[in-house]
Amino acid sequence: MDGNGRWAARRKRPRAIGHRAGARTVNLVIDFCLDRGIGALTLFAFSSENWGRPEDEVGALMKLFVGALDREVGELHRRGVRLRFIGERGRFSSAIRERMAAAEARTAGNTRLMLNVAASYGGRQDIAMAARALAQDVAAGRLDPADIDEAALGARVALADLPAPDLFIRTGGDLRVSNFLLWQLAYTELWFTETLWPELGVEELEQALRVYASRERRFGLTGEQIAGAHAASPTEGPP
Ligand code: IPE
Ligand code: MG
Repeated sequence: MDGNGRWAARRKRPRAIGHRAGARTVNLVIDFCLDRGIGALTLFAFSSENWGRPEDEVGALMKLFVGALDREVGELHRRGVRLRFIGERGRFSSAIRERMAAAEARTAGNTRLMLNVAASYGGRQDIAMAARALAQDVAAGRLDPADIDEAALGARVALADLPAPDLFIRTGGDLRVSNFLLWQLAYTELWFTETLWPELGVEELEQALRVYASRERRFGLTGEQIAGAHAASPTEGPP
């Protein structure tokens, strides 16, 4: 979700106003996912690096966060959304941590949309924590180092219980991943737009889905192999 600050600057307004406008787009994107039957959405709300922004901007974001948790969780719950937070929770105030835990507990039984909010999140941090978990399991005698492989590490990063993301969308015109889900994005389709986050709309989301649908995902295989796999009827056995 990038471009809130520039959106505000163009209007000669403080950056916090841009973040408030960006919060409205969050609702629009959640509505879009519910409407289209998209089962999982992960929003990059606040990175590990964002703590380094000016104190007043971080403060404004925290206030917005508290307000959104107080206002929106009931409605999300009513609509079958399950909320989860990924990232270094310990860096938030106890007021925010309590609201996060309450929102997760309240919505834990919902299955219509898994909404993951990455807050104080960094992809490298995520992988480092998974490495720590592996080391702890080895030290405790639960894991043989010879059994450490992609599956073992992959089971310990954030969102391990979900399929890998199909589509990555970045607004705001920058062509980079910026330490988002580094491990999880290995084969994700990337889609970028110049549109600033507060101005993202349904038409553009539809366009992103169309582009996604037109891509051939090969996962390292050949186009022929992929076409063959699609052509094979699911009732047929292996060739
Ligand atoms: C993204 O908008 C929101 C957060 C990082 C919280 P920015 O604040 O990065 O907006 P720009 O990039 O300055 O326009
Ligand atoms: Mg930015």
